[in-house]
Amino acid sequence: MLKYFKERSDTMLLPNAKEERKRTKEKVLKEFYDNPSFKEIGKGKKYFVKTYGCQMNEHDSENIKAMLEELSFKEVDDYEKADLVILNTCSIRENAHNKAFGMLGRLKHLKEQKKNLLIGFCGCMAQEEKVVDEIIHKYKYVDFVFGTHNLHRLPFVLKERLDSKKQEIEVLSEEGCIIEGIPVKRANKYKAYVNIMYGCDKFCTYCIVPFTRGKQRSRDKDDIINEVKMLVQDGYQEVTLLGQNVNAYGKDFTDKEYRMENLLEDVAKTGIPRVRFMTSHPWDFTDNMIEMIKKYPNIMPYVHLPLQSGSNRILKLMGRRYTKEEYIELFDKLKTIPNVCISTDIIVGFPGETEEDFNETLSVCEYCKYDNAYTFIFSPREGTAASKMEDNLTIEEKEQRLYKLNELVNKYFLESNKRYLNKTVKVLVDGPSDKENMFTGYTEENKLINFYGDKSDIGKIIDVAVEDAKTWSLDGRKCTK
Ligand code: 5AD
Ligand code: SF4
Repeated sequence: MLKYFKERSDTMLLPNAKEERKRTKEKVLKEFYDNPSFKEIGKGKKYFVKTYGCQMNEHDSENIKAMLEELSFKEVDDYEKADLVILNTCSIRENAHNKAFGMLGRLKHLKEQKKNLLIGFCGCMAQEEKVVDEIIHKYKYVDFVFGTHNLHRLPFVLKERLDSKKQEIEVLSEEGCIIEGIPVKRANKYKAYVNIMYGCDKFCTYCIVPFTRGKQRSRDKDDIINEVKMLVQDGYQEVTLLGQNVNAYGKDFTDKEYRMENLLEDVAKTGIPRVRFMTSHPWDFTDNMIEMIKKYPNIMPYVHLPLQSGSNRILKLMGRRYTKEEYIELFDKLKTIPNVCISTDIIVGFPGETEEDFNETLSVCEYCKYDNAYTFIFSPREGTAASKMEDNLTIEEKEQRLYKLNELVNKYFLESNKRYLNKTVKVLVDGPSDKENMFTGYTEENKLINFYGDKSDIGKIIDVAVEDAKTWSLDGRKCTK
């Protein structure tokens, strides 16, 4: 049994935002997955996992699925056919919340017809005090809740629920160990996510992640490299190194000087054909990392570099720790990587954002001409510093800004895609496209491409000639030698 649960009583373990904010200097311990002995509790039963949010959550769902299969549950692709439905939720913006609560509403109806349906709730929303409080009082039909820090406890939480026949809630406010050895059912046979770190210590004022995912903890390099080596053996073509702030990898080690640049090099040396990483914070991006990307052809020339705002005043209010000038300096350095594509995240309508601040964001976008950008309207998240700042913009003003920003960035996406016209690109083929007779995949620079090709190329990296460029994707045809 893991140390955090030794003294567990029958009382519920509930989240607490104040505790979640705390950061200790304590060294992170490594624990291994505690394999459950009750392996037949899901025999003859079907499960469905619904995932919201980022790649981190997608990967957590790969662990959730494998744990359920260890308990003999079988996956179904329609929640209405399932005996157990788990919602793996996201807290990043209000609409993510609404989606999860909307789904809970649908599950309530299903449970009225199917009395034995079990409903589980986990992920970032499960770390929020207010949400768990609502589940206890308003969503009593939710059978069990577990948090991001104790994902590996799913089999035990589920078993408790079945034995006690009561709503079971087990959410830790303080992150615990790094848990190694959790089984994984990968969604893709050629592309894999590998966690390199958990949590985040940046506390950008708008962001809930440092609360829901806890203190930064880097995984041991040997565990990461071994995982990638196994993937190579299994024929994987691509690995994405995941973390909330991957550039800060290793900064929490107290016993060694091993950082993201070293990890990138060691992962590249495993020989996996494609290495990607996300997400980067401009603050921790080092020149050595840039050198590694240049040195190893299997580290893909694609960087996601969130800008958030182009106004120094707003950047300061956001707690981003860089100025527009510093961001641009880094951006220019990244542009020295041959063929690099750079994408970004931008928030409009942050509290107090003036027209002038917004215009500065537009002007940075004009300078950077991003290859892709994810744009959002500020959404106040309870417990964060920005949620307490005075916000005097109307929703219409925010929407207008978003519209104007999207118009500008979309123009550059098209320009960026047009650069590939009549060129040959290397594509890792994912599978059939939604477009008839076409296949789909991604280029090294992370451009989505639909093309005429062969079924036998799925999972392979092939040459494709680009014939058309659109705002969101390329079209092409497989090259024949
Ligand atoms: N409101 C709007 N957008 C947000 N993001 C994070 N928190 C918020 C928020 N409260 C955006 C940031 C981040 C991306 C993953 O989501 O741009 O980089
Ligand atoms: Fe959403 Fe952030 Fe949690 Fe990912 S880490 S699921 S983006 S809140």
